[in-house]
Amino acid sequence: MPYFLGVDTGTSGTKAVIIDETGKVVAVDTVEYSLSTPRPQWAEQHPDSDWWRAAQAVIPSVLKKAGIQGADIGGIGLTGQMHGSVFLDSQGHVLRPALLWCDSRTGAECAEITEAIGGKEKLYATIGQPIFTSFTAPKILWVRKNEPHIYEKIAQILLPKDYIRYKLTGEYATEVSDASGTSLLDVRRRNWSPEMLSALSIPSEWLPKVYESPEVLGTVTAEAAALTGLAVGTPVVGGGSDQAAGAVGCGVVQAGEVSLSIGTSGVVFAHLDEASFAPEAIQTFCHAVPGKWHVMGCVISAAGSFEWYKDTFAPERSYDEITAGAASAPAGCEGLMFLPYLSGERNPYFDPDARGVFFGATRRGTQDWFARAVLEGVAYAFKDLFGLLDEAKAPAVEIRAIGGGAKSALWRQIIADVLGKSLFQMNVEEGSAFGAALLAAVGTGAYASVPEACAATLRTADETRPNLAQTAAYAPYHALYKSLYPALKPAFSEAARISQ
Ligand code: XUL
Repeated sequence: MPYFLGVDTGTSGTKAVIIDETGKVVAVDTVEYSLSTPRPQWAEQHPDSDWWRAAQAVIPSVLKKAGIQGADIGGIGLTGQMHGSVFLDSQGHVLRPALLWCDSRTGAECAEITEAIGGKEKLYATIGQPIFTSFTAPKILWVRKNEPHIYEKIAQILLPKDYIRYKLTGEYATEVSDASGTSLLDVRRRNWSPEMLSALSIPSEWLPKVYESPEVLGTVTAEAAALTGLAVGTPVVGGGSDQAAGAVGCGVVQAGEVSLSIGTSGVVFAHLDEASFAPEAIQTFCHAVPGKWHVMGCVISAAGSFEWYKDTFAPERSYDEITAGAASAPAGCEGLMFLPYLSGERNPYFDPDARGVFFGATRRGTQDWFARAVLEGVAYAFKDLFGLLDEAKAPAVEIRAIGGGAKSALWRQIIADVLGKSLFQMNVEEGSAFGAALLAAVGTGAYASVPEACAATLRTADETRPNLAQTAAYAPYHALYKSLYPALKPAFSEAARISQ
């Protein structure tokens, strides 16, 4: 019986999961790395010394944990953080560290792109999203303007997981769900947009060919096999963006099903049968289910805010101690609240200059209140994303919570209470890496389709129900939260201007 391997090149580390043909998780392992922020709005990682080094460590380790050989793996699925830009020269060498999804240095390039394509409406009609600093296209223009000596050597641009594909298989290739986040894909046609490429003067030969997510796009080379313990010739499927693979990994493969991913970023993701491009404050991307789409909204710093809070204010306390303290603070914290805009904010504001804020402190607020305010602030931001789903006519019927933050019972309860909706957890908690392994199982013939693989392996295991009295109590706090961004916007811009 073959096993399947999922490899997730995430923001805080690379995770590998091995499953058997029934979807049972046999082994999991993670190798961590950090993120470099050489300047206030910058966020970079190195494709070789961070991602490929971690992949070379985690793959043999997870094989060992599973007690199997590389030859027992029937297929590999890749997933990872979206939008990051890997620039390669004609020899396939990395030219500079990758600019990441949470890098917000490209505000000026975003404005240039909108103008080059002929305005916001034209842009939205072409790529299903407004342009934002997270996405890949403005990163390319930034390198063109600021590092011409690098730009002139570019021969290939890849996304993070597709760099791992290149190292494993020697192939330059990508798939529709991750390619959607470059702002260069015609999301309706599921292929590169000639209009975008010509308006931005980006040579089409710099981009890899685009496939559907479960397709086999290459096989493991002898060199990669020697470095990882995998077997030469093992098929590697397209895989998916971390959000699309995460949605597959919790069975969000039909209308009404929504995933809420509480990772470094927080993402609300709803399946769509058609590419309906509305409203403008949310992104429409291709799903990893062939021929399907999804709408997605992102809070840039979700669990990332809580991690920052711990590192900055309570490094000596464990997450469990911090959440136990936060549970003792009053719901709503008497108006002490946190705006989680530590790296700017994507939906609904698309504002790279927005900043994190603690608002409403009084002498009554303790460290526990501040911790709770962080958890609640992220929950208020999620509520706004769910409002956007309703506007996009993709209302959430069932919400499946995934990602590290979903493991906190207190945070799940706060979110369920703020939303007034149940959060479900699945029998498998390995998220994107599990979804990538399932895509490998589909692509190599163990299942006939992605929905079939999900139906065979996934079921809901736990429900966090909202306390509706608490939902009513949170409503005025959420309204206050919503009023703060517009009030502070001019101050955010000024802070960005004076601290350049
Ligand atoms: C999605 C996004 C993040 C990254 C990192 O658009 O920017 O979720 O994929 O996880």
